Amino acid sequence: MKISKIEKEYLKKIKLFQEYNKYYYEKNNPKITDSEFDLLKKEIIELEKKHKFLKSKISPSNTVGFTPSKNFKKVKHKIQMLSLSNAFNEEDLENFEKKIRNFLSLKEDAEIEYSAEPKIDGISASLTYKDGKFVQGLSRGDGKEGEDITENLKTIKDIPKVINEKNFPSEIDIRGEVFIQNDDFKKIDDKFANPRNAASGSLRQKDPTVTSKIPLKFIAYTFGFAKKMHFQSQSIFLNNLKKWGFKTNEYNKKIKGIKNLILNHEYLEKKRKDINFDIDGIVYKINDFELQKRLGYVTNAPRWAIAHKFSANSSVSKILDIEIQVGRTGALTPVAKIKPVNIGGVIVSNATLHNEDEIVRKDIRVGDTVTVERAGDVIPHVVSVDLKKRKKDSKKFIFPTKCPCGFETTKDFNEVTKKFDAVRRCPDRGFDCDIMAIEKLKHFVSKEAFNIDGFGKKIVENFWKLKLIKFPQDIFKLDYKKIKNLDGWGNLSASNLKYAIESKKNIPLDKFIYSLGIRHIGQENAKLLARHLKTANNFFNLSLKKDTHELKNIDGIGDTQIKSIVNFFLNKTNQNFLHELKKILEIKDAILLNQSGLLKNKTFMFTGKLENMSRAEAKSIIEENSGKIISNVNKKLDYLIIGEKPTTKKINLAKELNIKIITQKEWIKMLN
Ligand code: IVH
Repeated sequence: MKISKIEKEYLKKIKLFQEYNKYYYEKNNPKITDSEFDLLKKEIIELEKKHKFLKSKISPSNTVGFTPSKNFKKVKHKIQMLSLSNAFNEEDLENFEKKIRNFLSLKEDAEIEYSAEPKIDGISASLTYKDGKFVQGLSRGDGKEGEDITENLKTIKDIPKVINEKNFPSEIDIRGEVFIQNDDFKKIDDKFANPRNAASGSLRQKDPTVTSKIPLKFIAYTFGFAKKMHFQSQSIFLNNLKKWGFKTNEYNKKIKGIKNLILNHEYLEKKRKDINFDIDGIVYKINDFELQKRLGYVTNAPRWAIAHKFSANSSVSKILDIEIQVGRTGALTPVAKIKPVNIGGVIVSNATLHNEDEIVRKDIRVGDTVTVERAGDVIPHVVSVDLKKRKKDSKKFIFPTKCPCGFETTKDFNEVTKKFDAVRRCPDRGFDCDIMAIEKLKHFVSKEAFNIDGFGKKIVENFWKLKLIKFPQDIFKLDYKKIKNLDGWGNLSASNLKYAIESKKNIPLDKFIYSLGIRHIGQENAKLLARHLKTANNFFNLSLKKDTHELKNIDGIGDTQIKSIVNFFLNKTNQNFLHELKKILEIKDAILLNQSGLLKNKTFMFTGKLENMSRAEAKSIIEENSGKIISNVNKKLDYLIIGEKPTTKKINLAKELNIKIITQKEWIKMLN
C-alpha cells in the first residue's frame, strides 16, 4: 500500500475513534458496542506498530490504560478491599487447605468448614452505614482508595437506605457486588459487551438519574470496618445480612471437605446457565472468624479465602506471528499474536504460549489454527492446535537461543528436581540488556513500587525510545521543556507529571527495595528485608559486604534470594544507578508493624515442634507484638523458645552464649 493511502486509512480510524470516544465518555451514549470500540482501538495501535511514521495526539496509544471517570471524588477505604487468589482444580484446593492446616498446626484429619459463595462477576462496592443510615458508597478502585459513587448507588433498590435492626453496628462498611441480571442485560446489550461492563458503565454515569434507569442489583457478602460486631462465623454474618435487609446469594452454603467442595463446584458449573446473573467461580472462606483472624493476610489477599474458578471460555483463531517478550527478570516468554476474536465479551489478540518447552510439546507454529482460552482475569492462553487445518508448507517454530538484546540465553538447573527449567532467560544483566531495562523501568514506576501517577507503560516505552530515560535516576531528571513539546503533551500534562514524580521522591524502604526489581524479591520479601535492615544505608551497605551472612538471619529469606541479591549488587551498572538514586531520594526507615508491642526490641528463635501452633503463626504473633524472629543462634538472639524434640546443638550453643532458653508456655506468658 502507498504511504498516502495508509495515512488516509489511519486518519479515518482516528477520526472515528474520536467521535465514538466523545459519545461514550462525554455524552454517555455509546454509538457502538464496547467490543467494536476495542477492536477499533486495536486496529489503530496495530497500524502504528506496523508503520512507525503514523502518529496522532489523540491516538488510543497515548491514553494510559483505563482511567476511571474523573467526575468522582477519591476516598480512602478505612479497611483495604482485597483481592483473592485463584484455584483451578482439586490439587490447588488441596494445597490451599494444606497451607491452612500447617499454619494453624491442625491435625491432618481435622475438618475445616467453609462458607462457599458463588463469585458474582460484577463490580464490588463498599457501603458505609452510620447509625443505621447509608452515608457513603465507594467503588473498589485500587483496593486502597475508591471513587465516591454514593448517589449512583442510592438508586439501587437492593441497597437499604435506613436500617433499624437492634444488632446492626453503629458503624459498618457492608461490601458486596453490584451487577445486572442477564434478562435485564438483554435489553441493553447493544451498548455493552457483557453484563459486567454494563454494570460498571451504569455505575459510572455522571448523572444518577441515568443509573436509576438501569436495573442494577446488589448482593452483600462481607464487611470492611465494623464497630463492635461480634459474630462467630461468616455464615452467621450472612444470616444477619439478610435480617438487616440485604440480599444474599441463595446458593451460599456451608461445606466441609475438598470432595464436597468439588461436588458443589460441579453442580453450580452445570447450573450456571440457568442462573440469572454471571458467576465465574466459587469463593471459599474459612467459616470461623477466629480462625480467619489467626490466618491473617498476605500482601493483597487473605490467607483464609480462595476463588475456585469455573472452566474458561474459549474460541478458535489463527496464529499470525509468535513474538518473544522479555520480562524484567529476563524470562523469554513466547506470545502468539492471533487474529482478534471475541472470547466471552473481550477482544483477544494476544495469547501466551508460556515457554519454550510448551511450544515444543504442542508443536505450535505460525499459521496454525488454535483454540484459545480465557478464564476471568487470567491471561488468555493457547490450549491446542487443529492439525487438520495445518498447511503442508508449515515450518516448525525455532525458539531463539539469544535474547533480542544479543546476549546468549540460559536455562537454570533446578537443584531440587534435578531438571533444567522450562523457561529460557537472558542472564540477569539488569540494565545492560535494553529490553529488560525497559521492563525494569516499567516495574520501577508501577503501582506497587514508586506508584507514579500517569507514568504508565506506554510512556516508559515512549521516553525510552526518545532517549529521555535509560536508568531509574533519569526519571527524576526529566527535561520537561522537551516533554511539553512532544506529540500528545502540553504545559499542563508535563507539569502534572513533574508534580507526580517530585511527590514520590520520599519513599518507604520496602517499596524502594521492591522497585529495584531484583529477581526473587517480591513485595513480601522486600518487606522482610526492610524490616530487618531498617535503614536505607544498611541496604546500600550490602553492596560493600563480601559476605551476606547477616541476611541468613532473616526468617523467610533463603539461599535463592540471597544469591539473587548478591548477583544484583555485583553488577556495576546496578551499583552506579543505586549511587545516583541515593543522592536524589529520601528513603524512609522501615516502619515496624507495631513499635510499642510487648516484645519490643527482643529477638526470638524456635527449636522443636510447637503445641497447637505452626511456626508461621508463632512468627506472625511475634511480629504483631513488635518482636523479631531470627533464624540462627548468635549473639543477637535474646530468647530461644523450645518446643517438642528441640535440637540439642542449638540449645548447647544458646547456653554457651548465655541466651535465655524458655518454653512455649513461658513465651505465651510474656504476651499476657
Ligand atoms: S470476598 C477478602 N465474596 O471477587 C475477601 N468476593 O477477587 C474479598 N466477589 O473484588 C472479597 N463474590 O468483587 C468475596 N462472595 C464473594 C464474592 C466476591 C464476588 C468478587 C469481589 C472481589 C473479587 C475478589
